[in-house]
Amino acid sequence: MSGVTLDTVVKRYGDTQVIHGVDLQVEDGEFCVFVGPSGCGKSTLLRMIAGLEETTEGAIRIGGRDVTRAEPADRGVAMVFQTYALYPHMTVEENMGFGLRMNGHPKAEIREKVSEASRILKLDEYLKRKPAALSGGQRQRVAIGRAIVRGPEVFLFDEPLSNLDAELRVEMRVEIARLHKEIGATMVYVTHDQVEAMTLADKIVVLRAGHIEQVGAPLDLYRDPDNRFVAGFIGSPAMNFVAGTVRGGGVHVPALGTTVSPPVALPSEGTNMIVGLRPEHLEMAPGGDLGVDLTEALGGVSYAYLTAPTGEKLIVEERGDVRSSEGDRVGVAIDPARLYLFDAATERRLR
Ligand SMILES: Nc1ncnc2c1ncn2[C@@H]1O[C@H](COP(=O)(O)OP(=O)(O)OP(=O)(O)O)[C@@H](O)[C@H]1O
Ligand SMILES: [Mg+2]
Repeated sequence: MSGVTLDTVVKRYGDTQVIHGVDLQVEDGEFCVFVGPSGCGKSTLLRMIAGLEETTEGAIRIGGRDVTRAEPADRGVAMVFQTYALYPHMTVEENMGFGLRMNGHPKAEIREKVSEASRILKLDEYLKRKPAALSGGQRQRVAIGRAIVRGPEVFLFDEPLSNLDAELRVEMRVEIARLHKEIGATMVYVTHDQVEAMTLADKIVVLRAGHIEQVGAPLDLYRDPDNRFVAGFIGSPAMNFVAGTVRGGGVHVPALGTTVSPPVALPSEGTNMIVGLRPEHLEMAPGGDLGVDLTEALGGVSYAYLTAPTGEKLIVEERGDVRSSEGDRVGVAIDPARLYLFDAATERRLR
């Protein structure tokens, strides 16, 4: 079994540097998820691990073996892409066994491996069908099956579910979690989807512009972000950010017309701060002067979109029967223990 180590890896395309010295340890058997905005380098980093992109500087080790200059086929990895690219003229069975057949593995061994992958992925009844006669989710399962039969030490997934509709995504997410449990291999997974990242990952890596912003277990990142970027990226709807100023031993927050005294050491009087408030930690209070622009009722919860007198926008999650409606004037109650403070200049979190 194998972990993956990135040792100050750098990627340049000509003069353009897209990965800026990334250090990362993915433990053996761990499910590691890369998240970050479009263009931050998630796919590039994954492709560097796969050997599909050359690593400009630094080293990549898989299971302790330096694979920085190794061919993709010699790295013990298998990659699953967003577009599954199955061979249309081959059956499910033939698609899954193709790689092994090309490498001259004996027929009996191929049959055994395909049938094992088919069992894991519940594809038994589709083995004789061609891809055209499968749903999107079934096709993606075949693509994953193709990876499984190769018996890789490390699975690499690049947004494997993003072509599927919402319901299938949920189903496949559960399948992938089960697959990880069953085969226990190291997995590195790229996604845009908050819920996928939070539910699948043992470890989330938040990337921005080719740098790692923070690495941690999903709930650790949610509860304890290092900076404004991570705070705003993890959690849905995103954390609210409003301006604040250190004043008289507390933080004055004009948007809410209040001064809070959070349990952290504050910088000097007059320092500009960013106050972070999660929608789920706010409560409506009577007698305020924020306007309700819009409410979204999702059933169990509603989201109220507010504008403060300062012009700053906030989202508040509401539960229970009494909910605000468009045009209401409301106040917002905050729990000082549950707010996040960031230095406005550095965007680092104060703890
Ligand atoms: N061949 C190339 N030449 C120059 N720049 C490139 C090349 N390939 C990718 N890039 C740049 O590298 C950066 C990272 O791209 P990458 O595909 O890794 O992003 P990503 O995080 O996977 O984004 P997305 O979420 O949109 O898939 C982008 O800014 C992209 O424009
Ligand atoms: Mg990508």
